[in-house]
Amino acid sequence: MSIVPLEYNKRTHDCGALRGGDAGKTVLLSGWVDNFRDHGGMVFIDLRDRGGITQLRFNPDTDPAAHGIARSLRSEYVVCVRGEVVSRGGNVNAKMATGEVEVSVHEIDLLSKSKTPPFQITDDVDTNEDLRLEYRVLDLRRPRMRNAMMLRHKITKTIRDYFDRHGFLDIETPILCKSTPEGARDFLVPSRVHNGSFYALPQSPQIFKQLLMMAGMDRYMQVARCFRDEDLRADRQLEFTQIDIEMAFVQPEDVMCHVETCLAEVAMAALGLKVQLPMPRISYAEAMAKYGKDAPDIRFEMTIKDLSAFAAKTDFKVFRDPLDAGGVVRCIVVPGGAAMTRKETDGLTEEIKGIGAGGLPLVKVAEEGGKIVLQTGIAKFLEAEPIKSELLSASGAKPGDLILFAAGSEANVCKWLAWLRGTVAERRGLIPKDTWAFCWVVDFPLFGMDDETKNIFSMHHPFTSPKDEDVHLLHLADSGLPPKEDLLKVRAKAYDVVLNGIELGGGSIRIHRSDVQSRIFQLLGVSAEEAKLKFEYLLEALQFGAPPHGGLALGLDRIVMLFGGFSSIREVIAFPKNAKAICPLTKAPSEVSAEQLKELGIRLAT
Ligand code: AMO
Repeated sequence: MSIVPLEYNKRTHDCGALRGGDAGKTVLLSGWVDNFRDHGGMVFIDLRDRGGITQLRFNPDTDPAAHGIARSLRSEYVVCVRGEVVSRGGNVNAKMATGEVEVSVHEIDLLSKSKTPPFQITDDVDTNEDLRLEYRVLDLRRPRMRNAMMLRHKITKTIRDYFDRHGFLDIETPILCKSTPEGARDFLVPSRVHNGSFYALPQSPQIFKQLLMMAGMDRYMQVARCFRDEDLRADRQLEFTQIDIEMAFVQPEDVMCHVETCLAEVAMAALGLKVQLPMPRISYAEAMAKYGKDAPDIRFEMTIKDLSAFAAKTDFKVFRDPLDAGGVVRCIVVPGGAAMTRKETDGLTEEIKGIGAGGLPLVKVAEEGGKIVLQTGIAKFLEAEPIKSELLSASGAKPGDLILFAAGSEANVCKWLAWLRGTVAERRGLIPKDTWAFCWVVDFPLFGMDDETKNIFSMHHPFTSPKDEDVHLLHLADSGLPPKEDLLKVRAKAYDVVLNGIELGGGSIRIHRSDVQSRIFQLLGVSAEEAKLKFEYLLEALQFGAPPHGGLALGLDRIVMLFGGFSSIREVIAFPKNAKAICPLTKAPSEVSAEQLKELGIRLAT
């Protein structure tokens, strides 16, 4: 028995590899001490690496030196061991992939010691997220996190392979660049060489990929880091990763077909799931009318019903006033929702006030003596005939159901009912488990209009092409501006792909005609000088033979989050920022030295 250093670079297996058939082999394993048990003489250690866990056994009678070292080991020590694989006979540990065997260790080399970790390296610890992020090195050793990283790799590779097979070139685009048009705030990087000038970090490679199409690259893809200075949420980070693609000589269906086929391959690789293709296509107008949002969760029904025609016949002020002001009245019907308690509905009322609603009008539908009756809430305003029957027929509500109403501007009603639909379905267990509902949302309006300023803005970005059949609404030949009603009718060649109510990706066919592009800038109130200042290089390139082109970007973090069953993209990013935009590990962002600021020509105001 020797204690000479073991050749840890010659591992024979990882810690998840050994099976019953390996009994009798001599193996060399390395890893971390996951668990330590001293059974009155015999020491057992669970050794962990990326592959899994193998039980090690140290026998004081046969290998006293190794056994001596084993007794001094503690959690997270790093060791290399050589030993013999032994069958555990009838004593199999079914919870472990390697549970049929253990390794009887003859030689051990202690490679490094560990301080006591601030939390246990197991999946079921309830540690606060900032502590996990501060000790991310330890956190990533937990099987769930290791699996998240492995899943991320697998998904990225599947996507890369798909696009490689279909002739897409992987081309990198600059990180230090000029402002891009995605509409969030830019991160700026001061130039040392040109004091007073700043690079912007890309919100996406949007313009560069368009330039690549004009440069004749035909098909492009990139696993691209994007930077957006926006408020963080569970599905939003300051820096995130897009699977960014662009294709020349295409229409929306060509891009969508590649993206959905690729996503189906990802679903198969990640979950063994067969996705039915083509995915359903839902128009923006239908998505807003039935689900109240442009990223509809179609795993369950409970769709929004329009009650405006019915409401116009009532004298009920809560409905009439918004209607008279040009608004709408809509509802959702919660199946079995009459069973909800006062506490539950009062809770919803308080919460919906938090997103701007004045309250939550509701009624319960019941059956009494063979007659359908309305109860609680606003029942007394609606129970007279024929109002009641009309409500029941317009909403489709049945005895036992709860009707939740919203009245106001169309945008607000959509927002409130979308929130109610999602929240109530979640709380009442109405969303089927293990269901994967993909869909495309298409026919987005090209423009939106700001409620207050009445200014027109791009729904996607200003390079999005109008649908061919709607181009006439831009009145290209006129010198004056087209009427706003016409502009709001223009539909875009834009499409979003959605999974379980979360937007996975969005894209569009781009404008390749410089006259259309100039018109769009004009309509958006971007002056010729401003357009030149910001996007001159793109406008210039458009004049040297631009192919029709289009593409899309998928949020990789969101894909991994959903397929991995996580509730936040922070769980699938190795080193994310916390909800306060801080990296608890490195403590970024941090102050810099006066000298650095001086070099950059920057003086702090505070
Ligand atoms: P868009 O802005 O819709 O399109 O972004 C595409 C996808 O990127 C993901 N995403 C994010 N993920 C995490 N954190 C964020 N802050 C964040 N912001 C966006 C979403 C989203 O669907 N250049 C266009 C694409 C194109 O037209 O080709 C673009 O960036 O999953």
